[in-house]
Amino acid sequence: MPPTMSSFSPATRIAPSILSADFARLGEEVRNVVAAGADWIHFDVMDNHYVPNLTIGPMVCAAIRPHVDVPIDVHLMVEPVDELVPQFAKAGANIISFHPEATRHVDRTLGLIRDHGCKAGLVFNPATPLDYMDYVMDKLDVVLVMSVNPGFGGQSFLHSALRKLRDARARIDRWTLEGGQHIALEVDGGVKVDNIGEIRAAGADTFVAGSAIFGHPDYAAIIGAMREQIARAGTLSA
Ligand code: DX5
Ligand code: ZN
Repeated sequence: MPPTMSSFSPATRIAPSILSADFARLGEEVRNVVAAGADWIHFDVMDNHYVPNLTIGPMVCAAIRPHVDVPIDVHLMVEPVDELVPQFAKAGANIISFHPEATRHVDRTLGLIRDHGCKAGLVFNPATPLDYMDYVMDKLDVVLVMSVNPGFGGQSFLHSALRKLRDARARIDRWTLEGGQHIALEVDGGVKVDNIGEIRAAGADTFVAGSAIFGHPDYAAIIGAMREQIARAGTLSA
């Protein structure tokens, strides 16, 4: 059965990006990474229009859906956005996030995602201000901070993302304190064992990692090492 909101319950989550998986063995790859401890499967959709790369769509999402029971976290790097929302919902996506620059009506697109029974997320490129959040807080389930420019796996983490994560954390905490719903703070791009601790300390609770996980021969070992760093960062900042 497809997962629901309870999948948001662990305090921190690791979301391997299948962009760096072996596309010829995708079913086996997602099963293996979930068996190794992945909390979500991050699914990067690129259209050679919004970003200069072309990847996978709803048919591939539907194909991997029966292989795993964790949430499928669809990251849309496409323009326009709305046409694909019902298609991904039907394909078994649980979370659908998009870039605010890629849609004419951000509020409407967030509503559309939720109307289709999915959690809704906004993605912020390195130079995109967080202001897009301010008037749609009640429609957000995920805020995704890009720590690389979108389009490719295996890029280096941009340090400016740490300040943006702290800023997003403060906005989310203020909202929750005022009685607002839970909003996950996700980070995507260049996340490795050696920087995940400081990223956690900056406020992220959900960590996308593509090349770091799928480029490692032992998925359980690398996910375990990431969790250890996350736990250590939690202890230090507590
Ligand atoms: C980039 C994608 C990322 C990417 C992350 O546009 O959104 O999800 O796959 O890959 P790594 O972890 O290799 O930077
Ligand atoms: Zn992504």
